[in-house]
Amino acid sequence: MKLNSTDFQRGGLSIEDSFDVASALGGAGIDLLEISGGNYAMPAMEGVAHPAGTTSGYFLDYAVELGRRVETPLMLTGGLRTRADMEGALARGIDMVGIARPMASVPDYPARILAGEPEPTLPRDPRRTGYRPIDGYLQLAAHNDQLHRMAHGLAPKNSAGLSTAVPAIARTGRAALRQARTTAAEVV
Ligand SMILES: Cc1cc2nc3c(=O)[nH]c(=O)nc-3n(C[C@H](O)[C@H](O)[C@H](O)COP(=O)(O)O)c2cc1C
Repeated sequence: MKLNSTDFQRGGLSIEDSFDVASALGGAGIDLLEISGGNYAMPAMEGVAHPAGTTSGYFLDYAVELGRRVETPLMLTGGLRTRADMEGALARGIDMVGIARPMASVPDYPARILAGEPEPTLPRDPRRTGYRPIDGYLQLAAHNDQLHRMAHGLAPKNSAGLSTAVPAIARTGRAALRQARTTAAEVV
């Protein structure tokens, strides 16, 4: 299961809520819990919800604290890029680390890290507009775009801006612009 530490939204999932959910999942016997955070309106994947310069695993402290409360093996995803940061997370008791966005342009990123190579250079992030939902959408759109390029045998693009959103919206259709939130009732 993948679990948000928090969705950073008023009335949304708080850190205490997610500790409760994690305990319940652990009690239900899941094999692995992946910790990340945010959602499409407040994407932690962009690092927007974190102090500038926090790169060594956005949710590391949370995951370490969670590890004290549950016995389920934990995986940490979000912002991990360097071998040192990944090893740092493992040294603090995290069982597994996850890498998402680098895979959209360097699919053998983990193999290179494991081989002891220097961290591969990644394309620049889309320029920020300062409006979080748009910046989050641009992050998604830019990485989606790289995946589509890879599928067509094209090299990754090294820059992404507002124009990145256009093909993404075209591909997704009107649903791309609709704000939606799945409720617990819908999931059940
Ligand atoms: C194009 C794209 C699609 C994603 N889709 C999902 C998703 O469907 N569900 C999910 O939990 N996380 C999704 N994520 C978030 C990633 O799984 C990951 O938690 C996040 O990018 C932080 O990890 P990173 O810093 O290594 O990228 C997506 C990320 C990207 C870039």
